[in-house]
Amino acid sequence: MGICFEEKRKIFKLDTDKTTYLIGLSPEGYVGHIYYGSRLVHPAGNSLLRMEEDPRTPSVNDREKGTFLDKFPMEYPTGGIGDYRESCLNVRDVHGCPGCELRYVSHRIYKGKEKLEGLPASFGVEEEVETLVITCADEVLGLTAELSYSAFAKENIITRSVRITNNGQQPFELEKVYSACLDMDNQDFEMISLHGAWARERHIQQGQLKYGKQLVSSLRGDSSHQEHPFFALVTPGTTQRQGEVYAMNFVYSGNFIAQAERTQYDTVRMVLGIHPENFGWHLEPGESFQSPEAVLTYSDEGLGRMTRSYHDFYRNHLIRSKYTHQKRPILINNWEATYFNFDTEKLVEIARQAKECGIEMLVMDDGWFGKRSFDDSSLGDWTVNEEKLPGGLSYLADQINALGMKLGIWFEPECISPDSDLYRAHPDWALQIPGRDATKSRCQYVLDFSRKEVRDYAYECVAKVLRGANIEYVKWDMNRQLSDMGSACLAADRMKELFHRNVLGVYEVQERLVTEFPDLLLENCSGGGARFDPGMLYYSPQIWCSDNTDAIERLMIQEGTALMYPLSAMGAHVSTCPNHAVGRTTPFATRGHVALAGTFGYELDITKLDPQEKAQIPEQVALYHKYNDLVREGDYYRLASWRENHRYDCWAVAAKDQSEILVTYVQVLAETKMQSRRIRLEGLAADGLYELEGTGCRCYGEELMKAGFLAPVFHGDFASGLYHFVRVE
Ligand code: DGJ
Repeated sequence: MGICFEEKRKIFKLDTDKTTYLIGLSPEGYVGHIYYGSRLVHPAGNSLLRMEEDPRTPSVNDREKGTFLDKFPMEYPTGGIGDYRESCLNVRDVHGCPGCELRYVSHRIYKGKEKLEGLPASFGVEEEVETLVITCADEVLGLTAELSYSAFAKENIITRSVRITNNGQQPFELEKVYSACLDMDNQDFEMISLHGAWARERHIQQGQLKYGKQLVSSLRGDSSHQEHPFFALVTPGTTQRQGEVYAMNFVYSGNFIAQAERTQYDTVRMVLGIHPENFGWHLEPGESFQSPEAVLTYSDEGLGRMTRSYHDFYRNHLIRSKYTHQKRPILINNWEATYFNFDTEKLVEIARQAKECGIEMLVMDDGWFGKRSFDDSSLGDWTVNEEKLPGGLSYLADQINALGMKLGIWFEPECISPDSDLYRAHPDWALQIPGRDATKSRCQYVLDFSRKEVRDYAYECVAKVLRGANIEYVKWDMNRQLSDMGSACLAADRMKELFHRNVLGVYEVQERLVTEFPDLLLENCSGGGARFDPGMLYYSPQIWCSDNTDAIERLMIQEGTALMYPLSAMGAHVSTCPNHAVGRTTPFATRGHVALAGTFGYELDITKLDPQEKAQIPEQVALYHKYNDLVREGDYYRLASWRENHRYDCWAVAAKDQSEILVTYVQVLAETKMQSRRIRLEGLAADGLYELEGTGCRCYGEELMKAGFLAPVFHGDFASGLYHFVRVE
């Protein structure tokens, strides 16, 4: 188990409980990829590197290395020397010439995992993870590349990152630094990725991998609504339960590229990293650059196992918050209730009625500061608007606390309104290109978080509020994507660093926040779900999933999000109908059932709610308290997808000890002449006897998993049911 090096054959073997990853060295010291797949007891040989086949390795054929390099399965390919597939590392020397060639120098293997400086990254203690660092060098540049691999045995995850150091005498420019590469033979692969838009995030798409390059990416400065830093290659016919899956997810919240390339030899190269467009990093002698982390997993039991590996991994080894494994307070957020139009009296009345229904926290959203009564002013002026909130935040907090409720608050620390005192005082604090009108989006600019004084200001604004009133939750929002990438403080030859420096700046400020306020419940958000990524999960245990709160639209958004992110992290609320985003009317119960698959809360004006709907809130609150431990900690199974069958949706969460399972079934569209649907469960003990709660009906796990249970037909669209099976024997 763990990681070992076989000196004789020069093979590194990285084992997890169910997978093996093999790396081999060529005689010249090229670091090659031998195998990633299901667990091997005896390591395969390095003959799989095909060094004996033409075109042969340079030291064997004693000839040119060109064709060899364009075929050899590289662990970390470099550009400019003859491998024409996508490279992971492009460097330009002091003369302006490209080219870098990495050869093995040494390695070290240790138990545990070191932190990545300035970046979010997974963690684990010595019993949980082992790390291999292969040091390679390019002697001409004086460049050292440390390729890090950490094997998390139980979760079947391998993380990768790279650290580049200038050990030479001259500076050089990094033009591209990816985090991971996987060279494999093609297996008729299909590629799965996530696409979307504002209020339509993370829809799953799948298609045949053709010759050439297929990619998803972001150049928007965030991980984006539109595409997502995740992709998987799957063998034909892969389902939730069967098929081979190779997946990569990126612990990063800025520009990315996730690309699969099918080559002339019918091999496939998967790469993942920071997008090279608008990226560059200048390294003086002695300086280093650390790449973000890629999270790889392999499953030979379909997408289901991939999903559960990621869920366990993120819950146990990435999300640090003390709330990760705790039931969060049920919140009511006033955004869809009031938008900008609220005052203390209104908020207190919402809180009072919410409290009566069992809700535990009021979150005051956008509009409490400066002179903000619409989205066109005051970002940056984080002082309370006393016209709306006389007595300020501490008075409001006292009022809310006196009701027995907690108070949460909204911020957008990374942005600045042109109509703000901050902008009038510091126009150069906004990202902008000299001589150009900066592009406004949602009437705002983005602060230059590469600058320390700007970060300090933003941090102090948030911290001062939290120090001054009893506020227990922050929703950290970011409502636009980045443009006008110029900084008043970066030298011309460093300007290409700005996108990445901004991401690092956001991480730094959030790190300070969770360090000074360890008890704070932080929820990240970005115009809905534009930054729902592993990078942000390192700082906040939950992220707002989407501004689309329609229960039916949420089915696909939450299915895509849950493909790798645990339900415990998915911000999900019950809102009013007709839904503000799509105008659809759905049963209140269905809205509750869908939101129960996330953090659960409300986003509506409870003072105006239909009494019949309001009467259901205490019932939903009770369901949350009853099921949240299971939903938060259990194993998630996707049983049917409306995306595929166009009629109904179904998922389940099973307890890890197989003692219970909660099934959520949504009949999206009603049909005539329909009989009940047979749903086959997963994650149960075959010989366990289970009772469907409330019915007295008992079945063995084997029957439920092989033959299934019958989900009843409902009259009407958008109806749903919860089915709780409890093991009785
Ligand atoms: C976008 C968020 O997703 C919404 O929930 C809300 O907080 C608005 N921003 C406020 O501007």
